[in-house]
Amino acid sequence: MERFVWHKLFDSESQAHEALDGGRIAKFFVADQAVCLVKDQGQFFAFEDNCPHQGFSFAGGKCEAGVVECPVHKYKFVLSKEEGKSALNHYPLKVNEQGVFVGKKKGFWS
Ligand code: FES
Repeated sequence: MERFVWHKLFDSESQAHEALDGGRIAKFFVADQAVCLVKDQGQFFAFEDNCPHQGFSFAGGKCEAGVVECPVHKYKFVLSKEEGKSALNHYPLKVNEQGVFVGKKKGFWS
């Protein structure tokens, strides 16, 4: 049984690539929670919109060479999903012919 509920962010992978060009951080609300989506070296990353420094939003920040910069105090956070490398709370992503999806853990009732 799948442990995630998948929420569509884009209708296609090419639409996501276009929207995230230039290191832009896109913000979405998924099941009442703010989620950021970025593209780094052709790969998508989704993470909680809650800066590890003081909890502000990453909206208006940027992503470059594997690092996300918070717009508030300019702290930088490694984007890697490797165990212990990033202070960001990553979400799983799924990219297929139907679009780009972010996974939220199933709750008791979902
Ligand atoms: S809240 Fe993000 S760097 Fe301070």
